[in-house]
Amino acid sequence: MANITCLSYVVFGVSDLPKWEDFGVEILGLQVGRREEDQTLAFRMDEYEQRIILEKNSEDDLIAAGWEFNGDAELEEFVRETTALGIQVVEGGKELAQRRRVEKIYTCDDPNGFKHEFVYGPAIAPTRNPFRSKKLIGPGFVTGRLGAGHILVIARDYEQSVDFYHRMLRLRFSDYIREEVQPGVIVDATFFHTVTGRHHSLATAQMPIPKRIHHFMLQVQDMNDVGLAYERCLKSGYRITMGLGHHPNDRMFSFYVQTPSGFEIEYGWGGIVIDDANWEVKSYSQLSSWGHKPVAGTSIVTSE
Ligand SMILES: [Fe+2]
Repeated sequence: MANITCLSYVVFGVSDLPKWEDFGVEILGLQVGRREEDQTLAFRMDEYEQRIILEKNSEDDLIAAGWEFNGDAELEEFVRETTALGIQVVEGGKELAQRRRVEKIYTCDDPNGFKHEFVYGPAIAPTRNPFRSKKLIGPGFVTGRLGAGHILVIARDYEQSVDFYHRMLRLRFSDYIREEVQPGVIVDATFFHTVTGRHHSLATAQMPIPKRIHHFMLQVQDMNDVGLAYERCLKSGYRITMGLGHHPNDRMFSFYVQTPSGFEIEYGWGGIVIDDANWEVKSYSQLSSWGHKPVAGTSIVTSE
């Protein structure tokens, strides 16, 4: 059986590219990579030519999740297996592969309105052009074989979504969180990992949010970079939706900030890596062990 190795990149459709450039570079500490005629802006997080691809359109939402394979043979095997399960997987073609900076690409529809892109051979930037962040003081983002980060996508039908990610994409169960966040309002989330073991590369939950994505998480290697990014948000007026806190399942120390597109970025440190040889799937009853609350006493708070 062929397996996805990691979440290679994400693609967002955004209406305001200049605002995103400021947010990405000055707040998140990303580096601008490719830029095309005010239509595309791609950010780098590491030696890859692109990790976060922004395409100008009015959706302000997740367009695609790019899943990486070790090579052509694994990719082709995965496509054969997925097609046999009844999913329509189509070849993406040379033009799309070029835009995604990969050797080969296939795509399929997600039940929640975005695309999955299955790829191998991501382009690496020349060594004379190493990743440089204007803002990070530590060694950079946690990427490599763990991939770009994780996404929490909104399930239209929770059971169908969980089934799709587990049975069709063959993602592995990490754990579950089920919390009554307000009387009668239960958030039920399932977390999935790939073979390389970032605690989760994808999670899904049914939430009353008019987007396909709740957040994309990027993880830094130095905890101080979380604090510094938090201060940059406070200073610049970007809205912190959940202050510093800690998740019980992936042990991520993080905060959440609203992007110029309305969905959120989780900016974190310390997330665990799963070793399937001794991993036990658990069910947690709280989304955060502490924190992740609205930030009181600042102008950015809209509700308590
Ligand atoms: Fe997260």
